[in-house]
This record gives sequence, structure tokens and C-alpha cells, in this order.
Amino acid sequence: MPAHNTLSETILSNAQIILEDEVVRGTLVLRDGKIAEIDLSGTSVTMAEDLGGGFVAAGLIELHTDNLERHLEPRPGVHWPKGPAVLAHDAEMAGCGVTTVFDAMRVGSLSTGRGKYAPFARGLADHLLSFIHDDKLKIKHLIHLRAEICAHTLVDELAAFSEQDRVGIVSVMDHTPGQRQFRDFKKYKTYIMGKRGIDEAAFQTLVDVSIKAREDLGVSNENAACAAAVRLGAVMASHDDTTVEHVENSTNRGMRLAEFPTTVEAARACRERGIAIMMGAPNLMRGGSHSGNVSALELAQQDLLDVISSDYVPAALLQSALMLANLWGDLPRAMRTVSTNPAAAAGLQDRGQIAIGQRADVVCYEPIGDMGVIRRVVSDGKIVA
Ligand SMILES: [Fe+2]
Repeated sequence: MPAHNTLSETILSNAQIILEDEVVRGTLVLRDGKIAEIDLSGTSVTMAEDLGGGFVAAGLIELHTDNLERHLEPRPGVHWPKGPAVLAHDAEMAGCGVTTVFDAMRVGSLSTGRGKYAPFARGLADHLLSFIHDDKLKIKHLIHLRAEICAHTLVDELAAFSEQDRVGIVSVMDHTPGQRQFRDFKKYKTYIMGKRGIDEAAFQTLVDVSIKAREDLGVSNENAACAAAVRLGAVMASHDDTTVEHVENSTNRGMRLAEFPTTVEAARACRERGIAIMMGAPNLMRGGSHSGNVSALELAQQDLLDVISSDYVPAALLQSALMLANLWGDLPRAMRTVSTNPAAAAGLQDRGQIAIGQRADVVCYEPIGDMGVIRRVVSDGKIVA
């Protein structure tokens, strides 16, 4: 049995088609895995799916999702088998309108104290790659290695990946307590003690071990992560840039994407240097960051937001883009933050827009108030939701 519907042609009529800079009414024809025709004549088409005036946008592109990790540990301390986790994650992303996803996998952890956890990225990637090889997944998956430099295991974990592993992004993270995302030490303490369920003494040990690891290995780890990105042919991203110095370092390293800058100052420095600015959809929807950093909304209002990532809530991707459409009064521009812009930042030229010859990746939705309800998702020409 095929993994999914393998229609070679899908016709979506009576649709509001979201192009790069405008919305047009007509019929979209997907054929042999590509966008084949955009027909504005208004003639009715037999064998078409009538969208009843609903919207069609380019399939969403997600560069940084923790969702697979969430499926691996659905509750704190509850570990789920990797294969079923990958399948559930794939179906969830497809259902949320995502047609290309970079699955974030953390590499680099502490080897002592309560901060330690067993390396899992290589084993998880094996499951993912074997499903891809057998054509069992609904959407296109690439790997995003999140390289933590405040770590003991990073170099070994990176060495386990090769150019065949579809690693498209390597981001360099530094979650040492007291800086970047966690420069508000009180918020860090609340977050970590809650997340890990640890007491004051265990928390203090974790802080001590982390700071020592950063001092001993931080610079060599960062060099190793950047070298790995080059070796794997991946785009390099920075994470939680807070100061202009952080952004200058990113520029010198050749980074093209800044994940979740924590201040307006850092975001502005990224813009000046041509680094794409990515913020989290949950931050946008909730009206603020859970770590107390700059709000995505504030960056959107200051025109300092290029890419939205669903981060830890896949369904937030479309909804947050629609929220931006309201804010900006410009639907095509808002949708570019979840399609064209992430495609460009990740170096993908064959997708991200509704245009002739692009991959047949689309999401159809019907507006309900400020939200969108997803009605149809086509990935690489195949109906997947
Ligand atoms: Fe972070």
C-alpha cells in the first residue's frame, strides 16, 4: 500500500491564492509534483476541489521545532519509542500545514550532575532517515542540529553525523546560566527547577558544573560546531543573540539566521548585517517570551521579524502568521514569514512560494475570525492532510 495518496494532479478551484505580493482569485493546478498553472479566468473546472473561496498558501516551512523531542518525552521522565514518535510528529506537522520541516535535535550535554542526559540525536536521526528512505513520511524532513556549547559531549555527538544525514541547519547555542536566553538568573532558576523537578542544592550544582564546562570547553565547542556545519553542508544559525558583539561574532562565523534574538538591539544588528531574524510563534501568540526576553510582537511592530518558527507548538505556525497579517494589514507579507523567508534562510530555492515550477507544496485554509482552519495540505504533489 502506498504511504499516501499519489495523485499526479490536484486542482484547487474557487480559491484565494496567496502569491508573493498579492492575493488572486482563481484555480491552482498541481501536476507531477510541481505547481503547473495559476488560472485566473474564473472558468469552472471539473474534477477540481472547490475551496469555496478559501485560501491557498505555499506549504509552511518550519526551521526549528522541538516537537519531535516533545513526542519522545510526552511527560517529564516518560520516554516514548523513537519510531512511533517520528511518525506521530510527521502526521502532526502535516496536519498543521507544514510541508518542509527541520527537526531540531539537541547535541551536546553535560556528562555529570543533574544537567546530564543521554545523547539521543544520532539514534533519533537513524529512525527518521530510515522512514525517509522507505518513503513512509508525509512531508519533507531535514535535520537541524542544535549544538549546545555549554556541554561535555558535543564534539563526539557531532562526529557521529556525516554529509549523508540531511543536516540542513546547525545552530550554535549557549545556555550557560546568566547569559543570553537565561541572563535573567531568577527566571532561569524558576524554569530549570520546574522543568527538571530539582531542589535548590541540585540547582546550584548544575550551575557550577555548567559554568565550569563553558569556561573549559565553550570556545573549542563553538569552533567544532561551526566546522561541523561546513563539513555537513548546513546553514549555520546563531541562537539567543543578546548583544551587538554576539551578532558580530555570528557575522564573522558566516551565520545566516538568528534564532530568537533576545533584545531589539541584537535584532537590529542582525538586520543591518543581512542575517534573517527568526522568532517563536508561541512568543507571538502569547504576547511575550517565557524567559522574559524581547517579545516577538515588539520586533514585528518594528519591522525586525523575518521568519516565524512554531518552536514547541506546531499549530501556532499558521495562526501566528495570520496574527501578523492583521498587525501588518498585509497577508502576503505575513505568509512570507512562514514560507518564502524560511526557504531563503535555509537555502531552499525550489519551494516557499506559489509560482509556476515550484514544488507542489500548499496549504489550504478557511478563515474563522482571526484564525485559520486547515482544510487540505499537499506536499510534493501528494495529499497529506
Ligand atoms: Fe534558547
